[in-house]
Amino acid sequence: MKSIKNILVVGGGMMGKNIAFVLTENPELRITVTDIANQDIWSGIRANCLQLTEKGIISEQEMNSRLGRIEFTTGISGASVREADLVIEAVFEDMELKKRTFANLEECCATDTIFCTNTSVMSPSEISAELKHRSRFVGTHFWNPAHLIPLVEVVKSDATSDETAETVMELLKSVGKKPILCKKDVPGFVANRMQHALWREAISIVENGIADAETVDEAVKYSFGLRLPQLGPLENADMVGTDLTYNIHSYILKHLESSADPSPLLKELCDKGELGFKTGRGFRTWTQEEIQKSRDELNAYLIRALYNK
Ligand SMILES: NC(=O)c1ccc[n+]([C@@H]2O[C@H](COP(=O)([O-])OP(=O)(O)OC[C@H]3O[C@@H](n4cnc5c(N)ncnc54)[C@H](O)[C@@H]3O)[C@@H](O)[C@H]2O)c1
Repeated sequence: MKSIKNILVVGGGMMGKNIAFVLTENPELRITVTDIANQDIWSGIRANCLQLTEKGIISEQEMNSRLGRIEFTTGISGASVREADLVIEAVFEDMELKKRTFANLEECCATDTIFCTNTSVMSPSEISAELKHRSRFVGTHFWNPAHLIPLVEVVKSDATSDETAETVMELLKSVGKKPILCKKDVPGFVANRMQHALWREAISIVENGIADAETVDEAVKYSFGLRLPQLGPLENADMVGTDLTYNIHSYILKHLESSADPSPLLKELCDKGELGFKTGRGFRTWTQEEIQKSRDELNAYLIRALYNK
């Protein structure tokens, strides 16, 4: 298996910064972030990860030492690119930009450098379609906030080698992540397919006047949402019995939302400029205080759940 020591993160935005910080968990890795925009990457990471030091999950000293192992450059050139064993791309979600970025990288990197894309929804097969060495290309879908959420979906393209996927899985484990293998390059990979199946039904319930938006959220938070971190849906199906699950599905599935298009209600909100937190109104109405509270409570919850702090 290829030994990984030097990692280049291309794109130092929200995801790139936090991914770089995650990688510093393994002290043997040398990390360089490159972005077209010059920036103080270290202050950005420190601000994103403030709760880790505030809650005493890592000390100020450890934070400084980890930040000290991240270098920053502008432009794809130089030793950090030539010597990269692995590259994680986190530029804007734009197919042509991602293709161009990897074409440039292929010119400068070694032929066995592993190429990873952090795309949320785009096909790794399509992004890598014009590359010469496609077997070393793989999707690594970190979830936001990347320094807290453990899951990373490792997504094989139609040409990714088993060895590439295994090397990346091992690297992710070495920095404390929980990688899962998505064996086929399908839209939404594994987790977003399930997440958006739930959102489609949630929106449909509101649209059909069955319950209002707040009630829908409460129904999740106070029932199966509480169990989910401990009991996945298929473990749950086994727990209640595949026979019971079969009977329930025989009765209920035909009544669930199955539209292949986004809901008309969702489109109406967008058309009216009711964009959620961005405008203070979406499915629900939000004051600035409620928006801040929602964000703070989410981070606090994640830290309690993950670190017991
Ligand atoms: N934001 C999320 O919740 C989230 C979650 C998972 C995955 N992603 C994916 O991660 C990627 C990055 O998302 P983000 O939210 O960090 O975006 P962002 O806009 O915060 O950052 C993108 C960065 O890429 C830089 N960039 C653009 N072109 C570049 C180039 N040619 N070379 C180097 N840097 C370049 C920009 O200057 C910017 O700093 C996207 O593909 C996105 O879909 C985002």
